Amino acid sequence: MYEVTQTFNRKIFKLEDHFERLLYSAMKMDMPLDFSMEDLEKDLIAVLDKLNTSNAYIRIVVTRGEGEIGLDPALATKNNVIIIVKELPPNPSWWYTDGVHMIISHTMRNPKNAIDPRIKSGNYLNNVMAMNEAKKAGAFDAIMLNGKGEITEATTSNIWVIKDGEIITPPIKAGLLGGITRKSLLKIAAENSYNVSERNFDEDFLKSADECFLTSTTKLLVPITKVDNQSIGKGKPGLMTLELLELYKKTNGI
Ligand SMILES: Cc1ncc(COP(=O)(O)O)c(C=O)c1O
Repeated sequence: MYEVTQTFNRKIFKLEDHFERLLYSAMKMDMPLDFSMEDLEKDLIAVLDKLNTSNAYIRIVVTRGEGEIGLDPALATKNNVIIIVKELPPNPSWWYTDGVHMIISHTMRNPKNAIDPRIKSGNYLNNVMAMNEAKKAGAFDAIMLNGKGEITEATTSNIWVIKDGEIITPPIKAGLLGGITRKSLLKIAAENSYNVSERNFDEDFLKSADECFLTSTTKLLVPITKVDNQSIGKGKPGLMTLELLELYKKTNGI
């Protein structure tokens, strides 16, 4: 399993939330964790000190450990933790002037009763194949549906639409990862009296939205201006999306 976060001005962003999600993934995978958040934080700081940069990408990979070959999880007992850090350049400015183009993928998101999408693990070949579809179509990323044809999320981001002033993101029960940016933005939007809800919608509804955007820790909010061959709204990044991005940054001290 893994987590991705970053530093802003040398401060690790929302480590508690990421550790909480790591614990959730571990619980769902029945994988004991033999380290605390404080242990992890100490190791992260040691690795970040070597990189010595203000904005760093951080990837934390945790395995069950080493042992005899076999499927039985009990064969490995001591976690291996791999920390990868690298310089994180600012997100490209064209994201905010032009927006990104997406496709609706033919590859389905994992059903909850196969591999629960709330587990953040490297076992997501279907997301990799969906991203491959997007790249071959010249798109930025792919949007994945569940078995009922409802929108779930993109391959490594959550998805949102705005229609008639209402901000909507699919509920966790649609089968998606509980994004930490998603959780934060839901709270911020509600606290600032925006009309925000978690409910299901399909591809037609998404394509008829006034605005559409992605969220993730490193991407923050990214406006979507085209899905397949359909322009979203006026085909330009939405004003409310850009307003929410500023509010998200301000509230989180970014
Ligand atoms: C499948 C998936 N959905 C959503 C997200 C966004 O989550 P977060 O906001 O916690 O970065 C990610 C993050 O990598 C992801 O892999």
